[in-house]
Amino acid sequence: MIRSLSYCVGIVSMVILTSGCERSTDSTPHEFVAEAKDFSGYQNWTQTVAPRRGPDPSGFIGDAHSAKDTMITRSIFVNRSNATRQGNGEFSVGTIFLKVLRAQDGSIPMITAMVKRGGSFNPSDNGWEWFVLDGQGSIMMRGAGVMDGMCAACHKAANDYVFTR
Ligand code: HEC
Repeated sequence: MIRSLSYCVGIVSMVILTSGCERSTDSTPHEFVAEAKDFSGYQNWTQTVAPRRGPDPSGFIGDAHSAKDTMITRSIFVNRSNATRQGNGEFSVGTIFLKVLRAQDGSIPMITAMVKRGGSFNPSDNGWEWFVLDGQGSIMMRGAGVMDGMCAACHKAANDYVFTR
């Protein structure tokens, strides 16, 4: 390993690319860093389940996602209609799940999202980045440890952290 690495560095310093060096770059995982615009238009994405109210059947939610409030409807979207788990059981980099909380008057108190960011980001939680957005889609919070790690801690119970697909 070390020998082939220094071989590559030597080659690169001579400004010659060989297939051996390309292989070492190929192994660098791709990273997707979401911006607010990547969440816009979610209304046209695929819904993973029918909109829900009250506690989820798995009983995981409890007070999270305003599940206790039967006046709040939760709608869940995915940005790729064909999003499926890869061979390793994980969704691919760039997959976005987004959950909208809607009050009875139509207002949206909160949007949450999880983005498969990948690369070297948050490897202990399969590369997911957690988001809290306001009703207009502005990013209020993001990161690996949003809400003191509560998002990840609860979602860990689901296969690759996703409950509804
Ligand atoms: C106590 C458990 C719990 C906590 C904490 C929690 N969630 Fe969830 N979340 C769920 C459950 C259960 C669902 C399944 C959908 C439903 O019934 O609303 C879900 C669904 C989602 C979805 C849709 C994708 C999926 O898993 O089906 C997103 C996105 C999401 N949550 C983001 C977040 C973010 C971001 C946070 C932290 C700010 C968070 N969640 C905190 C339990 C939790």
